[in-house]
Amino acid sequence: MTRATLLKNGLIVDGNNCPAWRGDVLLAGDRIVALAAPGQIAPEVMTGIGRDLEEIDCTGKVIAPGFIDVHTHDDAAVLDAPAMTPKLSQGVTTVVVGNCGISLVPLVTTEPVASLALLGRRQFRFPAMRDYARAVDAATPGVNVAALVGHSTLRLRHMKRLDQPARDDELAAMVKDLESAMAAGALGLSSGVFYQEAYAADQTELSALACAAARSGGVYATHIRDELAGILPALQEAALTARQAGLPLVLSHHKCAGPANWGRTRETLPLIEQLSREQDIGMDVYPYTAGSTVLREDLVDGVIDILITGSQPHPELAGRYLADIAKLWGLTQQEACRRLIPGGACYFQMREDDVERVLAHPLSMIGSDGLPHDERPHPRLWGTFPRVLACYWREKGLLPLEQAVHKMTGLSARRFKLERRGLLKPGYMADVLVFDPDRVKDLATFENPIQFSAGIERVWVNGVLSYTETARATGARAGRFVRRGRAEY
Ligand code: ZN
Ligand code: CU
Repeated sequence: MTRATLLKNGLIVDGNNCPAWRGDVLLAGDRIVALAAPGQIAPEVMTGIGRDLEEIDCTGKVIAPGFIDVHTHDDAAVLDAPAMTPKLSQGVTTVVVGNCGISLVPLVTTEPVASLALLGRRQFRFPAMRDYARAVDAATPGVNVAALVGHSTLRLRHMKRLDQPARDDELAAMVKDLESAMAAGALGLSSGVFYQEAYAADQTELSALACAAARSGGVYATHIRDELAGILPALQEAALTARQAGLPLVLSHHKCAGPANWGRTRETLPLIEQLSREQDIGMDVYPYTAGSTVLREDLVDGVIDILITGSQPHPELAGRYLADIAKLWGLTQQEACRRLIPGGACYFQMREDDVERVLAHPLSMIGSDGLPHDERPHPRLWGTFPRVLACYWREKGLLPLEQAVHKMTGLSARRFKLERRGLLKPGYMADVLVFDPDRVKDLATFENPIQFSAGIERVWVNGVLSYTETARATGARAGRFVRRGRAEY
């Protein structure tokens, strides 16, 4: 007899941006079996379930698909810390790893260069995607894992010098690796031409790789070359790469960074809309005005606040502001930054109106961009999804509930071709979440970033109850490696 759960009388938000309605949802095994008005699931369906049925009263609660975190750097975390509590506790049931050109696979090294260290330092041991997929399934993390292939990772594996475009033989080797990863179910290619490891890549190199991803029906997700003054040409470059290859584009963590660019989403969003008439474009966004990445001197402008999230030479300074450290040391902020490298930081480089414009835009999806290896991580690691609901739906009313959920579920699954996920629909995988719409709230802050959220009451992954708010962990982990679906978008 299969395990079954009847969620009764909840507010059903199906992930498809349809109006919410009150009803019951029946889960059995790893699937969603039926949805109906309260008490109306057909008797023959109910008798087929047998006696091993748990009933949960969801009156006053929202029943939604599990959230999909489309922008993560959890590649190593799902193996190292497979409970995946930072994500499960937000209602996330699937993570997309390998963003920003930085993926764990395919690469074997003990010395990841600069940006790749975002994934931790000792984990690069998978020569091919199928090895990683096997490792994920063996670890059975708390959430499902789908993977992009990082351009910087391919570069590091195959190129002798990273400060120039790939030579023909190097490019051929990168394409071959990418094709094999796509055959093993990768979602597509990611790039981070913003980062030093990939900055020298030219259009020929990027287009050849994007074409390889396109041949297998993949997507192209990119951390564009410039999110500051040069953002418009950087958006054009990304769009051109995807257009030439003929594949969907995802603009990673769309933002206008730096005080001189504040307000410029009034230019970028119309450009993206205009491009989207000719090609398939989406973007992801996190609900904070601070970004976070490795410590870089060129990002230290002496104007914006910079909060240190970790430093190898000075771990004790995590959680302090760079300006204070500089004062303490009697140095300029740039000089202090040099002493703290390698490390990570939060950069308060955005303005609220830009963040809100991107969040409200119909093409945006939610992605945390959380960095699980930082000592004091940006609060987006633990708070992104409840924050969208608490701050931008309930408090500010920026989005209707159905649209907020759509941006975390149905839209995300469709963009990344995650089959049978992201919606509450019979036959779909039972990645399901029950939350309290009055209480849901992120509690992680910049001062106190490692905090469970409130109001995320129960989370099922592939039909297995994996998180409850009261127990915080059920001890069960049911995540799988998720391969790219065949669905066309
Ligand atoms: Zn990025
Ligand atoms: Cu990222």
